[in-house]
Amino acid sequence: MAEVRKLVSVDDMTKQWWESLYTCCRDIIARPGVYADSCRGKILVTMFYEPSTRTNFSFQAAAQRLGAGVFGFSDPIGTSVSKGETLADTIRMVASYSDTIVIRSPQEGSATAAAMYSDVPVINAGDGSHFHPTQTLTDLTTIAQQRGDISDFRIGLCGDLKNGRTVHSLVEALAMFPGISFTLISPSELRLPGYLVEGMTAHGQEYTETRSLADCISELDILYMTRVQRERFADAAEYRRLKNVYILTMKTLDSAKPDLMIMHPLPRYGEISPDVDNDHRAKYFEQARYGMFIRMALLLEFMHLPRQAPPPVECRPPSAVCGNPACVTQSDTYLPQLLAKNSTNICGYCDKPISALTL
Ligand code: CP
Repeated sequence: MAEVRKLVSVDDMTKQWWESLYTCCRDIIARPGVYADSCRGKILVTMFYEPSTRTNFSFQAAAQRLGAGVFGFSDPIGTSVSKGETLADTIRMVASYSDTIVIRSPQEGSATAAAMYSDVPVINAGDGSHFHPTQTLTDLTTIAQQRGDISDFRIGLCGDLKNGRTVHSLVEALAMFPGISFTLISPSELRLPGYLVEGMTAHGQEYTETRSLADCISELDILYMTRVQRERFADAAEYRRLKNVYILTMKTLDSAKPDLMIMHPLPRYGEISPDVDNDHRAKYFEQARYGMFIRMALLLEFMHLPRQAPPPVECRPPSAVCGNPACVTQSDTYLPQLLAKNSTNICGYCDKPISALTL
């Protein structure tokens, strides 16, 4: 099996790697005591440029349950980032002190950029609206634990499919598994980005699109609710107009299957009514707990990898900047140009078209 040395996108995963990780995760769940000292002497760094409850704390809990030490920040204001230190230099420093780095940033492609300067594994804990691969590991674990395997179901992805990074990673990861079809439930303003829809077509993933949750809920085996991502809206009025577009209530569930699984990466902000929490189909709190166990499996693997210096990073003309205002290349203008795999016009950091790139 090819060695996986970073997890910045689903492209870093293979099905074989996932199966090995999940096998380890199941053993950790069954026999947690066996792993209590398995990362003794190792150090995890958590770099959170954006708020987090589940991802930050579950990584910290995971590391501590393995016996590792943890340091990091939940706001870069207390670090030399506030003096203008670049991402590249910050990563070089923390990599030299640690065994694995977890990074969350509002900038798309930040984890990809970080991995280019790190000689220890880098884990993407969410880069803007782009990807959140360890939430996907959490989601896959939840589905596997609850259903026995990951195959042959219809999943409804509901809410802010445009900005919801957990949806983006999950759609890509589910291409590895057979018999899965999708119902994409969103208003037209919050549709899944075109590059992901094109990817679904390329992978032969069957999907339908609708605005109405009520119209399709009876067909679903899994309902994956998401929050409308206020922090990604440039226009506050547009956010207010869309924020309550879906509210899942017990009444909505009247026509749902008795064995529907209701998932949500959390946090929620009104889109699942609290009375749903007591329904046996609500799995989102269990989902969050599975996240800690699969992150333990991931850290167990990554923290024992030997340090490996990355290839030297080329300097490139400063004019080559992607047009996506949220792309990491907008702020970190020293980054080299990167194209997405098999592409001549897609930015390799943020996966957006580079029509605005000045070459
Ligand atoms: N699911 C998730 O990423 O939650 P946090 O933002 O609290 O980490």
